[in-house]
Amino acid sequence: MLDKIQESSKYLAPFVKGEHTIGIILGTGLGELGKSIEIEHAIPYMAIPNFPVSTVQGHRGELLIGSFGGKKVIAMQGRFHYYEGYSMKEVTFPVRVMHALGVKTLFVSNAAGGVNTNYLVGDLMIIRDHINLFPEHPLRGKNIDELGPRFPGMAEAYSKRLIQLAEEAGKKLNIPLQKGVYAGLQGPSFETPAEYNWIRVIGGDAVGMSTVPEVIVARHMDMECFGMSVITNSTASEELIKTNHTEVQDVGNHAQPRMGAIFKEIIRKL
Ligand code: 6GU
Repeated sequence: MLDKIQESSKYLAPFVKGEHTIGIILGTGLGELGKSIEIEHAIPYMAIPNFPVSTVQGHRGELLIGSFGGKKVIAMQGRFHYYEGYSMKEVTFPVRVMHALGVKTLFVSNAAGGVNTNYLVGDLMIIRDHINLFPEHPLRGKNIDELGPRFPGMAEAYSKRLIQLAEEAGKKLNIPLQKGVYAGLQGPSFETPAEYNWIRVIGGDAVGMSTVPEVIVARHMDMECFGMSVITNSTASEELIKTNHTEVQDVGNHAQPRMGAIFKEIIRKL
């Protein structure tokens, strides 16, 4: 894997001028956030050696290199999901490449179902922790010691410092923020009512099909992580559970300016 990472980062290096220490992954319905990035280069995943190609509607598939909040950033517009058929190594490969390019801080966003009964559709949730319910671990297999330890700790998967900056940004910008635990499942089906209850019982506040693999791999390499979910649907009662992908994208679209403003304010303060 090391030679693949090297090959990809070597291809991208000429586009990355100066220090790009901040990485961003834009999730479902949040791709438009990319528009507020001052883009210097937009590189289709197809053009990048060893990158998988994304298939779901609403996921664009470009690596954006530019500035945001006055800092140099590398942003993924569109991510790879396990449910699309990619291996965990493929899903998390771009995070390895970002790290090789000098990214030290990773921002991730996603659309998620609100499991906490206090959450409303359209709420933004700071991810304070996650529960990994994926059937395969992204670090399964021989450890690559050059990248990180065999048994990486996950005691602070989501940086307390960045969470605090997010809370300050929310207050300053008058944007209400929830804070909770993201449960990551493989999908692609949404959950049954019994499964929502189970996620609630084990301590999940929101549920989705991404983010957890990328954050685990980022933490393996000791990158500082921040995550935010847009609550696109409530799962609090059987009447409310009528999730579909279009709805998820629409609510995501509506939340983009708020999430973008929070991300920008945090990044400005770094
Ligand atoms: Cl309700 N479940 C899952 N697994 N992912 C989602 C979601 C629900 N809403 C948005 N993404």
